Amino acid sequence: MRKKIVAGNWKMNNNKQETAELIESLKLLSFSTDVRVMIAPAHTHLVQAEKLTQGATIEVLAQNMNAAESGAYTGEISARMLQSININKVILGHSERRAYYNETDSVLKKKVETALRHDMEVVFCFGEELEERKKECHFEVVRTQLETALFGLKPSRWSKIILAYEPVWAIGTGETASPEQAQEMHAFIRGLISLKYDQNLADSVPILYGGSVKPANASAIFSQPDVDGGLIGGSALNVEDFASIIQSV
Ligand code: 13P
Repeated sequence: MRKKIVAGNWKMNNNKQETAELIESLKLLSFSTDVRVMIAPAHTHLVQAEKLTQGATIEVLAQNMNAAESGAYTGEISARMLQSININKVILGHSERRAYYNETDSVLKKKVETALRHDMEVVFCFGEELEERKKECHFEVVRTQLETALFGLKPSRWSKIILAYEPVWAIGTGETASPEQAQEMHAFIRGLISLKYDQNLADSVPILYGGSVKPANASAIFSQPDVDGGLIGGSALNVEDFASIIQSV
């Protein structure tokens, strides 16, 4: 049985004070133990977030990290740095990183390998752009993204992988994939994993949906059999909305 996950990707939002306030408000809520709740604040606030969530059932993840162990990479953050502040989870492959910072699938393959070498958990994002969906090549795009970045992994490594299907056309646009579109893609992804590995592994991998998830549409999306929760952007910045989305899973 896969555990449900709702993760908030705060992106480049919230200063130190706002980060603390949002975490304190989240801590006042009570969540079912059947769901893993995660938040990804900015790098500058990870130390604080880790401290404030101690003893709470809120997990903290980083939004990105570099593939290299250390060295001359000005402005970058390594796995070792994250682990030294007790952050053992990271989002990799977000479409904004792909679009604005040239993160290709082969770059992401290296990042995933580094994270897993450090025994970190990875929320791996992928998904097609609007043009690709219009041309009906979205399945092929997703297949290539997964094959390049992840399908070289040994089966045992997959216990640390959480997939997040985020169609780019649905991110921050207010336009969501319909529950049927999400289910169709998630089932396709599970099928790919089953073909490459086996059905047991395919059944064990959590696959989250991300892209304009809101309190109003969360339960319809989350009720799909192959949707195991969500990666939430804008709605994760508002405590009532995020709480309502968590309760919908
Ligand atoms: P929105 O929920 O704001 O569309 O963002 C989704 C996302 O990019 C989460 O990583």
